[in-house]
Amino acid sequence: MAAPIRQIKKQKLTAFVEVFGVVCIIHALTVFLGVVADEYEGYLLCRTCGNEVTQTSELMTVASKLAHRQRNDTLSGSEPVLIQLFKNPQGQFFEVITSKSAEVQTVDKSHGQDSWFPGFDWTIVVCPRCGSHLGWLFQAVHKHSHDSPVSSFYGLVLNNLLHEKEADSIIAVPKVYQS
Ligand SMILES: *[C@@H]1O[C@H](CO)[C@@H](O)[C@H](O)[C@H]1NC(C)=O
Ligand SMILES: [Zn+2]
Repeated sequence: MAAPIRQIKKQKLTAFVEVFGVVCIIHALTVFLGVVADEYEGYLLCRTCGNEVTQTSELMTVASKLAHRQRNDTLSGSEPVLIQLFKNPQGQFFEVITSKSAEVQTVDKSHGQDSWFPGFDWTIVVCPRCGSHLGWLFQAVHKHSHDSPVSSFYGLVLNNLLHEKEADSIIAVPKVYQS
């Protein structure tokens, strides 16, 4: 009688270890894929060509008193970010988000006049792939000033960007029309 019972116990234990092991592997994979997906979905792309411009994790708040309007809003499920409405001397309005870094190219020289962020010069930045206007690089006039928290940042035009998730949904729709 003794032997078969031990046999059954051993089988149960083996089955438990196998199931537990598989559950652990699936859990680890889910966590891993979740992390990868989160990072992937945080990308903001050039609306014209899809080039990666920045990630939502790179966005930072640089509030300006010269903004016509300010709102905190999420970008396709991101943390809320500060979106500011500015008007240039030509009367054009831009909704701008600010980021620490951006994959862009500066064009022309920097300008000091009519800056939306007093104490910062601005330089036009464009997409390095397609040349579309994406925003401006703002650089502190006095690099080591204690008044400004950063020496430089980017102001990006929200309308000229596309969130990775929006891009996915746009790509998902035309599948219906695929032959
Ligand atoms: C946006 O959020 C920041 C930080 O929570 C807050 O200080 C600021 O007042 C908010 N601005 C607006 C316009 O809601
Ligand atoms: Zn582009």
